[in-house]
Amino acid sequence: MIFAKDLTKEFPIFKRGKGFPGVFFIKERSKFTAVKSLDLSIEKGEFVAFLGPNGAGKTTTLKMLSGVLHPTEGEISVNGFVPYERKKQFKRDISFVMAQKTQLFLELPVKDTFTFIGEIYDVPKSEYDKRISHMIERFDLGDKLETLGRKLSLGQRMKCELVCALIYQPKVLFLDEPTIGLDINSAKEVRNFLTEINKEFGVTILLTTHNMSDVEELCNRTIVINKGEKVFDGSTSELKKLFGTKREIEFVVENPKQLIAQLQSNKDIVIMNSTESSVRISCERSGASKIIAEIMNQVEVLDINFYDADLADIVGKLYRQV
Ligand SMILES: Nc1ncnc2c1ncn2[C@@H]1O[C@H](COP(=O)(O)OP(=O)(O)O)[C@@H](O)[C@H]1O
Ligand SMILES: [Mg+2]
Repeated sequence: MIFAKDLTKEFPIFKRGKGFPGVFFIKERSKFTAVKSLDLSIEKGEFVAFLGPNGAGKTTTLKMLSGVLHPTEGEISVNGFVPYERKKQFKRDISFVMAQKTQLFLELPVKDTFTFIGEIYDVPKSEYDKRISHMIERFDLGDKLETLGRKLSLGQRMKCELVCALIYQPKVLFLDEPTIGLDINSAKEVRNFLTEINKEFGVTILLTTHNMSDVEELCNRTIVINKGEKVFDGSTSELKKLFGTKREIEFVVENPKQLIAQLQSNKDIVIMNSTESSVRISCERSGASKIIAEIMNQVEVLDINFYDADLADIVGKLYRQV
């Protein structure tokens, strides 16, 4: 569905040369490579997280995949089309939602933007009505239809952006930071909605985000880039396994205080928290089985729960490593 080989984007760096007063000679001095020989292969219906620190080249990649930017080098195809040729059918097959750019007419009621998009994409009236009413209900936007674009809250705006993006039922959705700045509830609503369109309509989604809850809840697969190059491509659980060297373990015991007293001198263990019936520790993954055996020898353990280390920590570590 989405395919790229050796995808590269260079931007020229201009420097002002010396000139007569008031006159600048602008010369192209060098090039900056924002995306470097990137290979991608994403199947229909996948929901992939596309992560990387600021400036890694995520937005530039999404712009090339959606046909906004022309690659400097490399092959690229999305649903069988070459994006930068911008064929009419290609534009119907994809949608691109950017947090920092709006599709809404700011001075018109949002329902006018919806109607406009429905018309330029020739969506039949009955289909249009069905989809819009479903999405409006899903996002609880019924009383916002008459609101001017510029008067929407950030959460409402993002929901309206998604409605715009899906009016013509694209096959591929590129999302650039759709949950940035949203409160927890709005972010959750956006996630639930994305799950629905991915599962029910098989929409292929490539999602850029800094919100690790998005990744954990939505994406089986994660691609990480840094300085324009791919540094990880695999399942999200693999990412945790590879880079999460810590393991958290919760022991359910009769007497947590006693266990804490016993563990306090052990340098391999950090006590994370405790309740009236449990103690949660953190330790190196490699030493976990030894620690569990020791504890089970010392006290009666009623139950054990395992937790993976926090994905945000893991990704942060990966960024620092590269
Ligand atoms: N039009 C442009 N001209 C020059 N440099 C650009 C342009 N667009 C992006 N860049 C640079 O390319 C790099 C990658 O940018 P971007 O793709 O926006 O990163 P990300 O979305 O991962 O934060 C950044 O260093 C950015 O400054
Ligand atoms: Mg970006």
